[in-house]
Amino acid sequence: MPPDSVTPSESVTAGRARLDALWARGRAFLGTRTAIMAGAMSWVSERHLVSAISNAGGFGVIACGSMGPDLLAAEIAATQAMTNQPFGVNLITMHPRLDDLVRVCLEARVGHVVLAGGIPPGTAVRAVKDGGAKLIAFTPALVLAKRLVRSGADALVIEGSEAGGHIGPVSLTVLAQEILPHVQDVPIFVAGGLGRGEAILSYLEMGAAGAQLGTRFAAAEESIAHANFKRAFVRAAARDALPSIQLDERFPVIPVRGLVNAGTKRFLEHQAATLAKFQSGALSKDAAQLDIEHFWAGALRRAVIDGDVENGSVMAGQSVGLVTAIQPVAEIINELTDQAVAALVARERSSVLF
Ligand SMILES: Cc1cc2nc3c(=O)[nH]c(=O)nc-3n(C[C@H](O)[C@H](O)[C@H](O)COP(=O)(O)O)c2cc1C
Repeated sequence: MPPDSVTPSESVTAGRARLDALWARGRAFLGTRTAIMAGAMSWVSERHLVSAISNAGGFGVIACGSMGPDLLAAEIAATQAMTNQPFGVNLITMHPRLDDLVRVCLEARVGHVVLAGGIPPGTAVRAVKDGGAKLIAFTPALVLAKRLVRSGADALVIEGSEAGGHIGPVSLTVLAQEILPHVQDVPIFVAGGLGRGEAILSYLEMGAAGAQLGTRFAAAEESIAHANFKRAFVRAAARDALPSIQLDERFPVIPVRGLVNAGTKRFLEHQAATLAKFQSGALSKDAAQLDIEHFWAGALRRAVIDGDVENGSVMAGQSVGLVTAIQPVAEIINELTDQAVAALVARERSSVLF
C-alpha cells in the first residue's frame, strides 16, 4: 500500500502511539495516562482541582502552603475520597513543621512528595524515601540538578521564569538546553509558559519526561478560584503577567510573576515610601525590609478566594495569554494531547509528501 493511502484515523493512532512513547517515562513515574502534571498553586490546588486533574488522566498536586499537619491530613483524605488516581503533595521546605508534614503524607500513603522553595533538607529527603514515596524537587541550574539527583531526588522539575508565582531568573528555553541533554538519571518535567501541546511535544523531543502547567489549570472550571480571578486570566495577554519590581537592591524583593494591577502599582509606592523612612532614620534596615515583605501578606488569598483582583496578588504565568476560556480540566488535558498528536500527524504527512 503506498504511504499516501494511510487513512486519517490510522495516522492519528500512530501519532498517539508516538506521543505515548515520547512521554512513557513520565507516565510510568507518575502512574498516569498523560505526563501532564499540574503545578501546586497555593489556595488553588485543593481537593476539587487536584482530583479533577488526576481523574482526567493528569497528575494533580495539593499545595500545602502554610497548612499545618492536621489541615493537610484532612485535605489529602478529602482528595482521596474524590479520586482513586495518583496525586502528589507539594511542601514548602521552609515550613517550620516540614518533618510532620512529610509524616502526614507518608501515613496517608501519598506516592509523590514535591519539595519546593529551596534545596530540600537531607532529613526530609531521607524521610520521604525511607517512607516509600517518590521525591520530586525543583532545580534552577545544572549543578544543582546533579546534586539533587545524587542526594536522592527521583524526578526534577525545571521551571522557567515564564511561570506564574515565585520565579527564578532563567527562561525555560535556556534551562531546558542547559539541563536536559546532561541529566538522564531521573525524569525531568518542564514548566513555565506552557499552554499548548506543540510546545510540550518539543520539550519531550528534547528529552523531557513530561510537563508541568499551572496557569491554564488555575482558570479551569473545577478550580475554586473566584470568578473574577478566572475572568482576569481569560482577559489578560502574556505581557500583562510581569515579575514584581524591586526598587532598591538593599531591600530585596522576591520575584513573583503576576498580573499587573492597582496592587502592583501601590507596591512600588510602598517601597518608595519605606525607603524614604529608612533614609530619614525613621525605620531601621530590618524594619524597612520587613515592611516591604509584609505588603503582600495574604494577597494571593485575597485575589484567589475573595476575588479582589485589583488589590490582591494575581499570580499568573506568561501562558495566561493562552487562556481563552474557562474550560473543564478534561477538556484542557485532551486539547493539549490532541495538539501534540496533530503536530506529529502533520509532520508525518509532510514527510510522506516531500
Ligand atoms: C496562582 C499560582 C500560584 C502558585 N503557587 C505555587 C505554590 O504555592 N508552590 C509552588 O511550588 N508553585 C506555585 N506556583 C507555580 C506552579 O506550580 C507552576 O509551576 C507554574 O504555574 C508553571 O508555569 P505556568 O503558570 O506558566 O503554567 C503557582 C502558580 C500560580 C499561577
